[in-house]
Amino acid sequence: MHSNSGPSPVTDKTILLIIGGGIAAYKCLDLIRRLRERKIRTRVVMTAAAQRFITPLSAGAISGERVLTDLFNLDDEREIGHIRLSREADLIVVAPATADLIAKMAGGHADDLATAVLLATDKPVLIAPAMNPRMWLHPATRRNVAMLQADGIAIIGPNSGEMAERGEAGPGRMAEPLEIAARIEAMLANPTLDPAATAPTPRGSLSGRHVLVTAGPTHEPIDPVRYIANRSSGRQGYAIAAAAAQLGARVTLVSGPVELADPAGVKVVRVQTAAEMLAAVDIALPADAAVFAAAVADWRVADAATEKIKKGKGGTPSLSLIENPDILKTVARRAEIRPALVVGFAAETERVLEHARAKRKSKGCDWIVANDVSPQTGIMGGTRNTVHVITADGVESWPEMAKDAVAEKLVARIAEHLVLGQADV
Ligand code: C5P
Repeated sequence: MHSNSGPSPVTDKTILLIIGGGIAAYKCLDLIRRLRERKIRTRVVMTAAAQRFITPLSAGAISGERVLTDLFNLDDEREIGHIRLSREADLIVVAPATADLIAKMAGGHADDLATAVLLATDKPVLIAPAMNPRMWLHPATRRNVAMLQADGIAIIGPNSGEMAERGEAGPGRMAEPLEIAARIEAMLANPTLDPAATAPTPRGSLSGRHVLVTAGPTHEPIDPVRYIANRSSGRQGYAIAAAAAQLGARVTLVSGPVELADPAGVKVVRVQTAAEMLAAVDIALPADAAVFAAAVADWRVADAATEKIKKGKGGTPSLSLIENPDILKTVARRAEIRPALVVGFAAETERVLEHARAKRKSKGCDWIVANDVSPQTGIMGGTRNTVHVITADGVESWPEMAKDAVAEKLVARIAEHLVLGQADV
């Protein structure tokens, strides 16, 4: 996320962006714009295949520099040779890194300007893979990616989700321009950092960390058979717990009543009421990060009946409500045991960002994940989500995604935050 506070340590750095030939190439135009906003100079090299998706003219117009395309073009070579090109940049970024480009890099090919630059460079390299999920999961690509990682090349993404091809889903979507820009900023600001330390989602990047997640609704009893509840399915919180466990975290999931199976490798503590949820959270603490995704009932019945309330006796009963403890606020404001990162959710039905910003302050948490749960969005209880992540530094709006993809992306951010110890990701 782009910070507006003070001059950035990456101002006046130069990156060389190598655009590969994939449908995600169009996202590079937005990436260049984001880098310009951050005052990062961007020189662009495009492969021949990339030029079938976007034109050098459009990339040049946005970057403000002539785009280079040809290893053997005398004009280009006279102007700046591939050796100089590769050495003058502070960082080389390959986006989208197609399966073919990754294979060429792993094999040390140098038959065009892009690959020649990559072979000639002594600078850090970041790649943003993008391809069909089957290609990404193919053993050949797995091998090639492992080789690049062993060579010290940093990798961002790919993200999971729907692909450009209809009906295709899985890992393979290029990381979003904002994510790539944030990674570039981090790498430029820490040039000596091990690339693995800035990788967003390496397996095991949360190992040794404890992540606490709350999920689901709470049930607040009216009498032994009736309760107050809400439409939360618990899916988003369960997906977050699963994603954190995937990255090697020890995960405690304190769950209200839901019809979901325990995620693999996660300790699940099942509760009914807000009071029980707070007690379970207290027992689970301390944690390195806590994500409060539960839709906790704001109120409970002041004097829940111990026997079933009978119809007709004394007319219609009236319920007197009292406020439940705010679990998020309690934990965020408890200095002695506060997790390093406290993330809250804000489910809103109108003026989402405004309410969410206010909530971040009033609850005392670090990030708020806000979403619009008005009935027409179908999000409450559904499988997809459109969220905005609000930090001290601004708002990042993510496109509509499956709740699993939101979880993976959020957990990758959490891992990055805990590893880099940065407030702004
Ligand atoms: O105030 P509101 O319910 O909109 O706040 C939502 C955020 O606060 C969520 O992160 C939710 O899990 C948390 N919360 C809580 N305990 C409450 C109410 C909300 O932890 N009693």
